[in-house]
Amino acid sequence: MTERILPSRRPAWTALQTHFQSAQKLHLRDLFASDPGRGTRMTAEGAGVFLDYSKNRVTDETLKLLIALANECDLKGRIKAMFGGEKINITENRAVLHTALRAPRTATITVDGKNIVPDVHETLDRMSSFCDRIRSGEWKGHTGKPIRSIVNIGIGGSDLGPVMAYEALRHYTKRELTFRFVSNVDGTDFAEAVRDLDPTETLFIVSSKTFTTLETMTNAQTAREWLLSALRDPAAVAKHFVAVSTNADAVSAFGIDTANMFGFWDWVGGRYSMDSAIGLSTMLAVGPAGFRDMLAGFHAMDEHFQTAAFEKNLPVLMGLIGLWYSSFFEAETVAVLPYDQYLKRFPAYLQQLTMESNGKRVTLGGVEVDYQTGAIYWGEPGTNGQHSFYQLIHQGTKLIPCDFLAFCKSLNPLGRHHDLLLANVFAQAEALAFGKTAEQVKADGVPDWLVPHKTFPGNRPSNTLMLEKLTPFALGSLIALYEHIVFTQGVIWDLGSFDQWGVELGKVLAQRIVPELEGSTEPNLKHDTSTNALIRRYRAAKKK
Ligand code: F6P
Repeated sequence: MTERILPSRRPAWTALQTHFQSAQKLHLRDLFASDPGRGTRMTAEGAGVFLDYSKNRVTDETLKLLIALANECDLKGRIKAMFGGEKINITENRAVLHTALRAPRTATITVDGKNIVPDVHETLDRMSSFCDRIRSGEWKGHTGKPIRSIVNIGIGGSDLGPVMAYEALRHYTKRELTFRFVSNVDGTDFAEAVRDLDPTETLFIVSSKTFTTLETMTNAQTAREWLLSALRDPAAVAKHFVAVSTNADAVSAFGIDTANMFGFWDWVGGRYSMDSAIGLSTMLAVGPAGFRDMLAGFHAMDEHFQTAAFEKNLPVLMGLIGLWYSSFFEAETVAVLPYDQYLKRFPAYLQQLTMESNGKRVTLGGVEVDYQTGAIYWGEPGTNGQHSFYQLIHQGTKLIPCDFLAFCKSLNPLGRHHDLLLANVFAQAEALAFGKTAEQVKADGVPDWLVPHKTFPGNRPSNTLMLEKLTPFALGSLIALYEHIVFTQGVIWDLGSFDQWGVELGKVLAQRIVPELEGSTEPNLKHDTSTNALIRRYRAAKKK
């Protein structure tokens, strides 16, 4: 364990601050002009992912200093501690071992003296045989019909990963099965998800690590009522409900047979759980072999992260460069721009992964930081975003580092579409980096008054990630890449990246307000004047 001092007091951080004074003035145009090798040198490759980071506002010196900072923060040691099962989630006293979910059968990973890998594979094997039974039609619903529709009920990490993976891997899914995902406690979510489904052919997966989450439990009860109002026999629940949870007692209290429960463990965080049994809907969609390919992709990136030199290590490079923008340039956001329609939910998935992990303002030692931490992640698939918010990225006042994601081969090769798509992703990164000077605009014959409007300052940074094709393996390696970027940044910022205390207060306050909305007698409201007035207004509207 390294000495616990605020990272911004470290010599490497101070050296970066000094370096920043000159580096912030450099323009990508000049960096490229003075260094013909830059575009091919500033690249790295691992686990099937190629990274071009040359269009970032960094020099070789910046990278040297960032890597020195990583070394001073003992990133290597922290990686070892995480993969080795040390209880690095100190505020919850837990190991952080999502990487064990994709470890090969032969691996040994010990938590509290026990090798956990056999349990991981036992669950995977149970999931596989369950999925085979559903996909083949062998598993019958209560009235003897096979399952045709699968509804995953969960929220946060028990929803965003499954939805994203289903959309991302749609090309590989069994098209005869219909998949729906219900997360919001807003009844509309459930109502719209089931309105055209036949209860006799529907399977609900109740996915909740804790099995106490208000939204999920409310939706699961509603699903039970929906099913039983059609099938009129409580015995039907066993054929139409399965659970994914760490909480067997709560699962059986709900009425789901624990024989139909797929477990995971407290060393898997919700936002790191899509490759655990929480991925049951993914496995149902793409089949056990597809799911295992995805796990192999995760594992390949895990290996790369553990073994590649920091200078060539994708998560380390992207993590450090991201931190350079957040903590030195004070850039507020990162745009993730996948040029693949199947990845339309990838930015939403990354929002929980990144922001629930590194949206923290005190160090592991409880000291308030004096630097910017986790960025706001957002994005939409290209080319759609180009016709919406890219204007601000090109010519606005904010610095928005971008991650462009592209695949060399389309899963739906149609005429010129893929060349046009890829031409756009390359063009956007080029335009952002190099812009168009006033002189170039004038040379086009643009009148003087219009020149400022048509000038692009450039110097807007981006990474370009290229993969061969969107496969389950590729998806796994991409997700693991971002998991480890988050880890790298969390280590350097000295954050507890694996807890999420910030979500608790709102949950507690909501529980207090529920009876104030539902009670028939006027409640004695003791909130602030704004909250009191809003509650009164809602109660009055309900009565009308
Ligand atoms: O409220 C946040 C959170 O705890 C997330 O971290 C988690 O992914 C989500 O709720 C759902 O929790 P569970 O799987 O226990 O229902």
